[in-house]
Amino acid sequence: MPMLDLARFPRLPLLTQPTPIEPLDGLTRHLGDTLNGVRIFVKRDDVAGIGLGGNKLRKLEYLLGAARAEGADTVVTVGAIQSNHARLTAAASAQAGLACELFLTRSVPRQDPDYTGNGNRLLDDVFGATVHELPGDADSLAAAEARAAELRGQGRRVYTFPSGGSSPTGCLGYANCAAEILSQADQLGLSFAQIITANGSAGTHAGFVAGLAAMGLDTTLAKSFAVLAEDARARAEVLEKANATLALIGSERRVSPQDINLDGTHRGSGYGIPTDGMLEAVRLMARTEGKLLDPVYSGKAFAGLLHDVRAGLYPAGSSVLFLMTGGTPGLFAYKEALAG
Ligand SMILES: Cc1ncc(COP(=O)(O)O)c(C=O)c1O
Repeated sequence: MPMLDLARFPRLPLLTQPTPIEPLDGLTRHLGDTLNGVRIFVKRDDVAGIGLGGNKLRKLEYLLGAARAEGADTVVTVGAIQSNHARLTAAASAQAGLACELFLTRSVPRQDPDYTGNGNRLLDDVFGATVHELPGDADSLAAAEARAAELRGQGRRVYTFPSGGSSPTGCLGYANCAAEILSQADQLGLSFAQIITANGSAGTHAGFVAGLAAMGLDTTLAKSFAVLAEDARARAEVLEKANATLALIGSERRVSPQDINLDGTHRGSGYGIPTDGMLEAVRLMARTEGKLLDPVYSGKAFAGLLHDVRAGLYPAGSSVLFLMTGGTPGLFAYKEALAG
């Protein structure tokens, strides 16, 4: 069994691990032969301990671990108005006793109250974060760094991290998760043909790639569906973050463009803009499994997986694993698209 030892990195536990791996029996019964004999499993990173959960908690375990090790009293991060990362940073900071400031850009062209005030944005306030809203084209990271400098001038100890928590330190969470999945698959007697995730800020995919590479495995086992950046940019980001994470881990392995398995064909017309495939995926998962995808990330990624399975990309009898990344508060910001 390949091993990955990340014990030397400070970590603040935020979710019970390993998270479960479950078969989608209800969905399989419903879709029958159209799945071409492929078994779809889900990894439940959405059933997490605090703040309604989601993939950002694994990154925040290492980010807030590092913040605490550096003696920080405040964290500052960035995202879109409906950022799941921002909401979970607010929740985890509350639990850790850290002040939290969020710089949120209006990058999705919507001004209706569901989007601007419900879902994640509402929870940011409930968790007690200080929120700064910026225009869609603003450089939020620069604004966050400027604020961090200001707070440091007032004697505060500030730890900042980028969108999605996708710094090399944050990516450790999914390098660790790659090892966790392999060990669970071994125990379950399963061999996954593919591990699939949504890709926004690239850190989840990059963490998987770094973990697999550090364990000497084929990194194309992990595949992402890009929902934010255009394909070339998303691929470059995964590559850069995976190699930076490998360097942080102390591995000598490096990855190249052909090691990154990425598909951008289910993004639709843009980040945060609904697609028919996303709507079908969200409803199908809800109505056959009682499980929730989200409208911005996992809904589009699961639509991509369903497309691939229906198109016969995986041989009959193979098993694929879909990472449930949470993001359910986002559903409340998409009432109009999802109603009915
Ligand atoms: C619910 C959800 N799924 C998937 C992702 C994608 O993760 P990453 O930003 O690491 O690519 C995000 C965040 O961007 C998310 O909030």
